[in-house]
Amino acid sequence: MQVGIVGCGAIGSYLIRKIQKDHNLQLAFAYDLDKEKTKKVKAPTLFLPERADIVVEAAGQQAAKEIVPLALRHCNVLMLSVGAFADKKFERKARLLCKKHSHKVLVPSGAIAGLDAISAVRESLSSVTLTTTKNPRSLGRKDKKRTLVFSGTAREACIQLPKNVNVAATLSLAGIGFDRTKVMVYSDPSVERNTHEIAAKGGFGEMRTITSNAPSKENPKTSALAALSAFYTLQSQRPAVVVG
Ligand SMILES: NC(=O)c1ccc[n+]([C@@H]2O[C@H](COP(=O)([O-])OP(=O)(O)OC[C@H]3O[C@@H](n4cnc5c(N)ncnc54)[C@H](O)[C@@H]3O)[C@@H](O)[C@H]2O)c1
Repeated sequence: MQVGIVGCGAIGSYLIRKIQKDHNLQLAFAYDLDKEKTKKVKAPTLFLPERADIVVEAAGQQAAKEIVPLALRHCNVLMLSVGAFADKKFERKARLLCKKHSHKVLVPSGAIAGLDAISAVRESLSSVTLTTTKNPRSLGRKDKKRTLVFSGTAREACIQLPKNVNVAATLSLAGIGFDRTKVMVYSDPSVERNTHEIAAKGGFGEMRTITSNAPSKENPKTSALAALSAFYTLQSQRPAVVVG
């Protein structure tokens, strides 16, 4: 499978390393606005979606809104900056292009556990709440004690904290949508790991998951699990046995 990468930062560069070691995956291109990031890449460094079976977007919400529609005309897209889906216009456009070109957007579970169950019970969910706790550094703040930074819907969170709420967006897409998923974000100087707690209720019963993420070595603001899950989603495009 030919994979194109857009955004060669913490997640993109991890994926490039893994793709180069995987017999079933080839790097079609690796593109970044910052040419330094692709200096050592042994593949074309232009955006060439026509050469790819799948394009991975790992560049940011704004970039996703520009690049994902262009890529969907040619191939499937694996999207990391999931918060872009909080923009209704983008969501409509992406869904229309998928239908028109018979392609799809793959959203990895990212830095959170439990989405398989949330998807399975989505029709009987009555409430879903995500509580995210991060060190003030990760939020660009200097709080000296635990502080509630945001409380509102997932849609509002994606707009107000675009770099910090991809998990809220992924949870919304899997469950009851951006307007019914509640989000609270805490800044807490006593924690070093980004922690995401999902609490869900409904006809199925109740569910609570907690994911406490070690930071990525390349970008401490990104959880290591996000990159691992993106690579797993890439690999799982061709398995004999599918789990979850
Ligand atoms: N889904 C999840 O659970 C999850 C988890 C962590 C991060 N993310 C998201 O994944 C994305 C990548 O994260 P990261 O930690 O690798 O970020 P990063 O900042 O380390 O890397 C982003 C790279 O994209 C490049 N870039 C920016 N705009 C571009 C454009 N228009 N075209 C090409 N390249 C461009 C930058 O130069 C940079 O090298 C971010 O949007 C982040 O919020 C999602």
